Amino acid sequence: MDSFEINKIIAAILMVALLIIGISKVSDLVFYVEKPETPGYIVETDQVLKVDDPNVKVVEAKVDIAALMALGDVISGEKIFKKCAACHSIVKGGKNNIGPALYNVVGRKVGLISDYKYSKAMSEYKKAWTFEELNGYLIKPAKWIKGTKMSFAGLRKEKDRASVIKYLNQNSDNPLPLP
Ligand code: HEC
Repeated sequence: MDSFEINKIIAAILMVALLIIGISKVSDLVFYVEKPETPGYIVETDQVLKVDDPNVKVVEAKVDIAALMALGDVISGEKIFKKCAACHSIVKGGKNNIGPALYNVVGRKVGLISDYKYSKAMSEYKKAWTFEELNGYLIKPAKWIKGTKMSFAGLRKEKDRASVIKYLNQNSDNPLPLP
């Protein structure tokens, strides 16, 4: 094979490549379909799931707080509180830190400490720190009170929440009876 022939082969390959590119460009033009701005139908899987799945509703509607609290113990709670201690004091007469002082917090109205500057979300949240509220908040603070400035991911384990809530309850002038 002389070099002339090789050139011809290369030229042929190039031609084919160019043709393929050309055809795809042309077909793009011919078969171009404009996407509608709003699709004809919207599938909202999330909502459908929530409404249809009875289990989800039950879990959301009612937490068996007595059973949950029974999982925890004060000793573990004290250990878990180390995560909170970066921002909160717990002793009687303790000062506000990044977060408000937590002595006596169980049963207290939300956002009650007068010399602490709460987020708008928390100061407008007109409830008290019952066992249920604390449990809900501590699962995922930002989800329970949207706009809270407590930047803490949450305690995923039920036992951890129960323990730390028991520990909070102990650090009080009047610990509430457990549910
Ligand atoms: C990174 C700092 C930080 C950590 C860690 C943290 N908190 Fe907080 N916490 C805050 C801040 C800030 C607020 C005030 C929230 C607001 O105003 O929205 C707060 C508020 C609270 C409140 C409401 C108190 C009141 O007076 O109404 C409770 C209860 C609470 N935290 C419990 C906990 C517990 C329990 C933990 C550990 C499991 C924890 N926090 C971990 C910063 C923190």
